[in-house]
Amino acid sequence: MFEYQAPANLLENRVILVTGAGDGIGRAAALTYARHGATVILLGRTTEKLEKVYDEIESAGYPQPAIIPFNLEGAAPHDYDAIADTIAQEFGRLDGLLHNAGLLGRLGPLFQYDPDTWQQVMQVNVNAEFMLTKVLLPLLREAPEASVVFTSSSVGSKGRAHWGAYSVSKFATEGLMQVLADEEDGLSQVRSNAINPGATRTAMRAKAYPGEDPNTLPAAEDIMPVYLYLMGSDSREVNGQVLKAQ
Ligand SMILES: NC(=O)c1ccc[n+]([C@@H]2O[C@H](COP(=O)([O-])OP(=O)(O)OC[C@H]3O[C@@H](n4cnc5c(N)ncnc54)[C@H](OP(=O)(O)O)[C@@H]3O)[C@@H](O)[C@H]2O)c1
Repeated sequence: MFEYQAPANLLENRVILVTGAGDGIGRAAALTYARHGATVILLGRTTEKLEKVYDEIESAGYPQPAIIPFNLEGAAPHDYDAIADTIAQEFGRLDGLLHNAGLLGRLGPLFQYDPDTWQQVMQVNVNAEFMLTKVLLPLLREAPEASVVFTSSSVGSKGRAHWGAYSVSKFATEGLMQVLADEEDGLSQVRSNAINPGATRTAMRAKAYPGEDPNTLPAAEDIMPVYLYLMGSDSREVNGQVLKAQ
């Protein structure tokens, strides 16, 4: 497991947006960031799940979060502009962006791969990351230092049979991260990196490996050190890297 001990106030006074914050790794990251002092903006497609995370953060006494119900699959460019406007008006700043939301699609060989599923996976896992990054970059550039964290996978650096659009989308995610890292290097205080979470006990993992005993896997909470490290100031000099959570 990635070793990092975060100070309790690591993210104090920071505003951080987490996509897919209602479940799995995104939920754990949102709670962890809030526990370390951040005001967390919870973005996701299932409002009830976001509300549960909101309530957990509030009842723990962490900084009051915000919810943005948003379906990354169907959103149009003006919907993204509206998100940026809302964050600018409500918070006036953005210090961190965790691109976590993702879709597995269906596993199977390319010659049988359903084109609609391909589009859906690429829309959520790649195109939405580009759109959100593009509209939020002006706010991120205004922060004293800002961190954009993408989520990759082991199949995002080496293709694997039957992982289809998911694998290709994670290669694209790493590419997007690298292009952004190179563009902002020397131009702004925005750094971007990616995390490969490794096998983690979530709904997505269970869908990909239905025969696996989930209790043999680390929980999302166990892989949070790298999520804290990349979001906080200790990684100020790290840019364009892919870090393994495990
Ligand atoms: N778990 C692993 O072993 C593992 C390994 C490598 C990489 N990853 C990556 O880690 C990230 C988190 O995965 P996870 O395992 O936590 O998966 P998960 O439990 O399935 O959670 C995925 C999250 O993304 C949200 N989401 C999906 N489609 C969306 C859409 N169209 N609009 C908005 N939100 C959407 C989901 O919302 P709903 O809950 O509302 O559906 C959910 O909150 C993903 O990028 C995944 O590829 C996971």
